[in-house]
Amino acid sequence: MTLDEFQTEADRLRADALAAFDRASNADELEHARIQFLGDRSGQLRDVQAALGALPKEHKPIAGRAFNEVKQAITAAHEARSRALVRGRSAGAADLDLTMPARRMWQGARHPVTVVTDEIVEIFRELGFTIALGPHVETEWYNFGALNFPADHPAMDMHDTLYVRDDVLLRTHTSPVQVRTLQRHPPPIRILAPGDVFRRDFFDASHAPMFAQVEGLCVDEGVSFVDLKGMLSNFARRLLGPRTRTRFRPSYFPFTEPSAEMDVECQICQGVGCAVCKGTGWAEILGSGMVHPAVLTNVGVDAERYTGWAFGMGPGRIAMQRYDIPDIRLLYDSDVRFLGQMAE
Ligand code: PHE
Repeated sequence: MTLDEFQTEADRLRADALAAFDRASNADELEHARIQFLGDRSGQLRDVQAALGALPKEHKPIAGRAFNEVKQAITAAHEARSRALVRGRSAGAADLDLTMPARRMWQGARHPVTVVTDEIVEIFRELGFTIALGPHVETEWYNFGALNFPADHPAMDMHDTLYVRDDVLLRTHTSPVQVRTLQRHPPPIRILAPGDVFRRDFFDASHAPMFAQVEGLCVDEGVSFVDLKGMLSNFARRLLGPRTRTRFRPSYFPFTEPSAEMDVECQICQGVGCAVCKGTGWAEILGSGMVHPAVLTNVGVDAERYTGWAFGMGPGRIAMQRYDIPDIRLLYDSDVRFLGQMAE
């Protein structure tokens, strides 16, 4: 190869490479062109370098300088095109409408039922209660039989039950956890059992087929109704404020005797009477009573020696009272427009 031929070849390479880089319209195409011209193994620049090596010695200084120029020109052109493509990508962002309002950041918050449940658990935890949990799917015996519901007794109609099969059902209350705990642990027992329960109800403003309950159970020697009343009245004042008035109404549950429901002064109208408390000034938040001796006997606890009290309350009801929520469906619809308000 003569010096002239070499020069022509180097110029051609420069022109081809610059044109190819210019044509590259994205990073992939540019990389393709880079390999074609600058590639270590088969790039055309390497071929020209090989030709340089083969030139007669006296031509090498001039040819070498020409080669270096071409190499720098091609390398610089590649870098420039590469930067331009990157800039071009964000130049597309010029379409952005900078006046568009920013999207609001979502802030997480605990669900109102969780907030209330946690507070209930904390208040009783300070009184020495521990957490006990039980399965959602229960047998008839745990949900009813052991709790002194006579077989096929109308009392079971109080709980519109969702059956999984013959003898297996979705628990209608958290009371089966009383049974499971008493079976496993000898008294003294102080447990709290939060969890979901299921009933064959349709959704309306005050019913849901699934809702949360918190069960409480205290069994020991010498436990009396005075303890129950004292504990639960004190609890209401801890949860809702020191001046909260409470009242107990006689009630009936097969697994407690005597039984009582506890009302708290309606938090929305302060006892005056409103639509939510249906004009009574009171809101029912729990059912309770002295554990029926038959329940203790059913699980092998000596009912002569031990007595106990139990309650079951609805944290959803309490949340509705506290946050002035008029419809239970708001608690279980998972509508972020509602739930988001808890984070504010
Ligand atoms: N299990 C009852 C219910 O769901 C509530 C309750 C629990 C009553 C414990 C008394 C004692 O209605």
